[in-house]
Amino acid sequence: MSDLRRPIVVGNWKMYLSSRAEVRAAEGIRRLAPPLARKMDIVVCPSFPQLADVRRLFARSRVHVGAQDVHSAELGPFTGDVSASQLSALVRYVIVGHSERRRHHGETDAQVGEKIRLAVRAGLHPVVCVGETRAERDAGETVRRISAQVTTLLDGLPVLELPRLVFAYEPVWAISAGPGKPAPQPDPEDAAEMIGLIRKVAARLGQRRYAEKMRILYGGSVTAKTVAAFVSQPGVDGALPGAASTQPAEFIAIAREILRCRS
Ligand code: PGA
Repeated sequence: MSDLRRPIVVGNWKMYLSSRAEVRAAEGIRRLAPPLARKMDIVVCPSFPQLADVRRLFARSRVHVGAQDVHSAELGPFTGDVSASQLSALVRYVIVGHSERRRHHGETDAQVGEKIRLAVRAGLHPVVCVGETRAERDAGETVRRISAQVTTLLDGLPVLELPRLVFAYEPVWAISAGPGKPAPQPDPEDAAEMIGLIRKVAARLGQRRYAEKMRILYGGSVTAKTVAAFVSQPGVDGALPGAASTQPAEFIAIAREILRCRS
């Protein structure tokens, strides 16, 4: 089944780079990506102000642009927020439910579920982040937490839309504090087990044949050196690097490793 799913790497630049550095990083990726971009999806998620410029830079390349977040309402009195329909002219992907949004902006699974439904309706591919905290893992709550997250997030989503989704299993405690500040990573077999669980829960809520088409990534302190251990596990379709994605050579090296392990 897995060969039906196209490998994918999603770079989350967060708020790491100045506007000029974002353009420079995009230029570097545009130079290095072509041999890989035919065989896999390469997605870069810059800051909101740089979406248009980065999109223009990638116009004739096969590199896709994604946003780092979207609001959970269609339109309305939400100062500083951006809706899925507004984004849809600029991007193809959008990250939702990132643990930094949950932590710093108090986002709930129910809100993230709304974001997924609106993103799908706007024709976008949501990159849906789930993962347990350190405390939840230590309490033996990981399976329960991931199952509950996926169940709430997919509530009300038409099953036909599952293949459009990309899930990312990102244990909160494995996300780096920035470039050069990696966090501990989970055992790759444990990560693959959680990724299998995400697919199982999605299949239970929807239908197996649609859940099988949904791509699921690992994220959390991924580098070109560590990514192979995760993507060589069954059912892992790619990675969501943050800090490492801001360096074009490292980001493309991660993409190359994903392709190597998945070919
Ligand atoms: P990291 O970030 O690779 O820097 O840990 C991943 C993420 O937060 O999406």
